[in-house]
Amino acid sequence: MKELESSPLGGDKRGVSLKIAVLAGDGIGPEIMEQGVKVMSAVCEKFGHEVSYKEALCGAHAIDEVGDPFPEETFQTCMDADAVLFASVGDPKFDNNPNAKVRPEQGLLAMRKKLGLFANIRPVETFDCLIHKSPLKDELVRGADFICIRELTGGMYFGEKKEGTDVAYDTNYYTRKEVERILRVAYQYAMQRRKHLTVVDKANVLASSRLWRAVAQEIAPQYPEVTTDYMYVDNAAMRMIQEPTFFDVMVTENTFGDILTDEGSCITGSMGLLPSASTGEHTPVFEPIHGSWPQAKGLNIANPLAQILSVAMLFEYFDLKAEGALIREAVNASLDANVRTPEIQVEGGAKYGTKEVGQWIVDYINNKNA
Ligand code: IPM
Ligand code: MG
Repeated sequence: MKELESSPLGGDKRGVSLKIAVLAGDGIGPEIMEQGVKVMSAVCEKFGHEVSYKEALCGAHAIDEVGDPFPEETFQTCMDADAVLFASVGDPKFDNNPNAKVRPEQGLLAMRKKLGLFANIRPVETFDCLIHKSPLKDELVRGADFICIRELTGGMYFGEKKEGTDVAYDTNYYTRKEVERILRVAYQYAMQRRKHLTVVDKANVLASSRLWRAVAQEIAPQYPEVTTDYMYVDNAAMRMIQEPTFFDVMVTENTFGDILTDEGSCITGSMGLLPSASTGEHTPVFEPIHGSWPQAKGLNIANPLAQILSVAMLFEYFDLKAEGALIREAVNASLDANVRTPEIQVEGGAKYGTKEVGQWIVDYINNKNA
């Protein structure tokens, strides 16, 4: 990434040049990606940044085309980029076939592992005008604002496996090093926020969780400003819906984080609203937390906001704060103007499609006075 002078819109930097790998994947992926890319280009133009995109194959259509859900060429494209914009992978033809040798999801897991993306940052925020969309009571979710830091390259997802017809297992393998590095990321986020970290584990049952807790207890004194508490995952699942405002930063292992962040999306009101960032050793990846929703493919009904907000996280990662803030402002304005996809539209409200919501946000950005 190349940086030049400062920007007129209040951004710190101007003339940044960004190389983006675009992995649109399957299902609704290409449709929401189109909107994410449009928004990214509009913001770059507004702030005087240069951006170039390189598309690469992944997921089910990569299996169909080259027999590999994360081909080597895609890996190289990611390694050569400053950031990866990822949409979604998955296809029912693989879900319904337990004998499939390769699965689209393996592409996503291979990308995470090969890029060393051990830290998955999943913010759970509420939008005031969408509070009623949450299945939880308004007064419980109002003001909920926390981040789940999910460990992304260890645990059962990657531990030793056996898949037999009579016996099958997945190993929840963690090393001290893996636990320590993700805890440090979590403490850094906690330091920048309300200084409250909840370590979520199952230390009353699992050996791997006891390692997590032991390492956390060793590290906690190094962050005296942060209040650290420890919570069993079953209790955390309950607390998240009983009192979501309790949480500030939560850190947990791969599998627990997968489950808790889907639960988190119910606080916000729609899966289509939650972005995420995955960071670690190599190129960071920005992606919605939702899946490929194959049933909606081509129907122009998928919500592009999680993808667009992932672009905001991308800018923020590079410390391009004003750029991220403009996207968030445009997203909020679209919601306030009821320019919404069907699943979050008010009763009797006009039906906006994926493209129309994306275009409205682009127009908002273009029309914003410098
Ligand atoms: C997620 C998804 C993935 C995961 C799937 C698609 C492999 O559910 O990113 O949360 O389990 O990590
Ligand atoms: Mg998930």
